[in-house]
Formats: sequence, C-alpha cells, structure tokens
Amino acid sequence: MEKLSISFDLYTYESLVKLPLEDQSLLQKAIKSRNKAYAPYSSFKVGAAVLLENGEVVLGNNQENASYPSGLCAERVAVFQAGACFPGIAIKAIAISAASELYILNKPAAPCGNCRQSIAEYEHKQKSPIRILMMGSTGPVYKINSLADILPLGFESSYLK
Ligand code: THU
Repeated sequence: MEKLSISFDLYTYESLVKLPLEDQSLLQKAIKSRNKAYAPYSSFKVGAAVLLENGEVVLGNNQENASYPSGLCAERVAVFQAGACFPGIAIKAIAISAASELYILNKPAAPCGNCRQSIAEYEHKQKSPIRILMMGSTGPVYKINSLADILPLGFESSYLK
C-alpha cells in the first residue's frame, strides 16, 4: 500500500485592497453583480465575474427558483454565459463574492461541488489554469491559482474516450 497526499496553495489577503489591481477590479465587479442576485429564498447572494483572455468580463449571480433545485449558482450563470458568448476564448480568472442578508459573512464562500465541476470543464478544455478569487461581504480574500486545486481527482473528458 502506498499513501499519496494531495495539497494545494491557498493564498490569503487580509482584505480586498491588498490584492493586485487586476484582481481588485474583478472582485469589485463580482460585488456589483452580487447586489443584483435573485435570492429571495436563501437571502444568500453571490456574484461572479469571469475575466477572459481577450479582456472581456462576463458577470453572473445566483438565480433562485420556487422549485429550489431549478435555481442556479452565480459561478455557473457566469461561466455558461462566457462559454455561450465567447466560445473558445480562455478564462483567466473568476472572482466570487458572497453575502447573506441575515448575518455578516466575514469569510470567503468557496464554490460548491457542482460549480467546481463546471469550471473544471473549461479549465480542462482550454489547457490553462483558471485563477479563483473568493470573498465574503467583508474580511479576507482567498486566491487559488487553478480550479483543479480544489477539485483533485476530478472527472473529465478523457474518461469518455
Ligand atoms: N450559491 C452560489 O451562487 N454559489 C455557490 O458556490 C454556493 C451557493 C447560491 C445558490 C443559492 O442560490 C444560494 O447560494 C444558497 O445556497
């Protein structure tokens, strides 16, 4: 038996203003988008901003539904919109901002498993890493340099050949 360990680098910044300017600007866009989220059932609003290699920024936010599973997370709204409008253009980074209307969220909210899988599809297809930035409504920012870091041993297209 052999035991393998998997680790990844998590970069933490004590606040938004400590980030490099490009990342600060992307996160600001995610915050603006978060404020337009449709989250009447959870009161948990999430905004996502996708930076493409051509400089375009595509926004998304969570869209809830009275039939709960029919809603969609901010990250998937944003990456699917990017894939629909800019097919073949690589994604450089995704900023995610989350906030609750019920309490102060002072730590980053990481993308859910379904969103990780969806973003991983694009990362795998484009063969270059997607940087992920996450923040709550206040507090620190987390950065990871590749989505694959938070979805180790992921399922991808090579299994289907
Ligand atoms: N949500 C997101 O938009 N992104 C995530 O990664 C986690 C959860 C949304 C879905 C739902 O509208 C609300 O947050 C509460 O789960």
